[in-house]
Amino acid sequence: GLSRRAVIGGAGAGLAVGAAGGAWGGRASAHAPTDRGTLGAARVPFHGPHQGGIVEPAQARAEWAAFDLLASTRRDGLAALLRGWSAAAARMTAGEPAAEGENQVALDAGPSSLTVTFGFGASLFDKVGLADRRPEALAALPAFPGDALDPARSDGDLWVQVGADDALVAVHALRVLARLATGLAAPRWLMSGFARTPGATPHPMTGRNLMGQVDGTNNPRPQDPGFAATVFATGPDWMDGGSYAVLRRIRMLLEGWDTLPLDKQERIIGRRKSDGAPLSGGPDAVERTPVDLAATDPDGVLRIAPDAHVRLAAADSNGGAAMLRRGFSFHDGLLADGSPDAGLLFAAYQADPARGFVPVQQRLSRGDGLSRYLRHEASALFAVPPGAPAGGYVGQQLLE
Ligand code: HEM
Repeated sequence: GLSRRAVIGGAGAGLAVGAAGGAWGGRASAHAPTDRGTLGAARVPFHGPHQGGIVEPAQARAEWAAFDLLASTRRDGLAALLRGWSAAAARMTAGEPAAEGENQVALDAGPSSLTVTFGFGASLFDKVGLADRRPEALAALPAFPGDALDPARSDGDLWVQVGADDALVAVHALRVLARLATGLAAPRWLMSGFARTPGATPHPMTGRNLMGQVDGTNNPRPQDPGFAATVFATGPDWMDGGSYAVLRRIRMLLEGWDTLPLDKQERIIGRRKSDGAPLSGGPDAVERTPVDLAATDPDGVLRIAPDAHVRLAAADSNGGAAMLRRGFSFHDGLLADGSPDAGLLFAAYQADPARGFVPVQQRLSRGDGLSRYLRHEASALFAVPPGAPAGGYVGQQLLE
């Protein structure tokens, strides 16, 4: 009979041959079984000028958790918590156990592009006597038409975002951090999301959301001029190099959406569903063809509809307001009526929400064709401090 090694080798060879001949053409080596180890080995450094989990591509799995300080926790307790969280995050993102013996769940896996991102809510500052250092940019978001927010799943003193390309690695990292909070902070809410698993497409592509659209095309890119000014804050001093994260749990009304014919779905966004190309570009357009909001067909009708999502969300329609979107899908079982509790864990990072999310959402909530198929169910705004230098911790500039 065949040895186990031969069977594994044979399966691998079969995959590679199939890959060379089909849609996977030319990328066979990236999908050979031996490369599975590469996914786990990928590392994002914890230390640096910015926290991880902002500019890196969304990982396959995300956990968002908010915590509230216990009434007994003072400023020194908060500093101790952030010191402990940063140290554990630094070790886990390097693929090391968070502490001696603390490695059971993720024992066999590499760091799998693990990132851990910490944020501070507006409510944190009064509780630790730092109200005078709360950034103006943390002012409460205005209410938007159509909001159906659940306070129990909104806001919070502290936010932890964990992302990894392996669900066990992500869940384990969050569990470690939650245990370190014992006696200092209590969990407030938790949301789990997902995005494309690297390797699922024949080459790296913009992801799709649960409505099926290519989502993320017109995001600012790190190589764009003005990227840092759009995404990273310069003040107050302790936030220099940080960012402000707006989070929204947006449920999709998929049963209504799914009955719409394709051309209606495309008109609502302003892009083709198959490849994300803008409707202003004609049949030869590709995903990256620039959007032309003024383009008309021969009858003079705007090719991108007046209420299309990409028209109303564009920086040009909102006085230059822009943000980096880095959301995840969620799929949390069924509602009482049997419809899916599914949608988008929307996240937008910007230097100042008043010049990013707020004006854009004001416009979208008042006339975007997509809004009829969405419910904003939870909302939060966090100051995401700059990254920690080696030996330092996130939030040190505020607390020391
Ligand atoms: C673009 C979907 C909510 C802001 C897009 C695109 C899609 C999309 C498919 C086109 C591709 C792209 O450029 O990424 C969705 C869905 C949403 C949602 C399904 C809710 C579940 C929001 C919200 C905001 C927003 C709440 C901000 C308030 C933007 C921006 C663009 C965009 C700024 C780029 C527009 C451009 O400059 O072309 N969205 N979106 N989206 N969306 Fe959304």
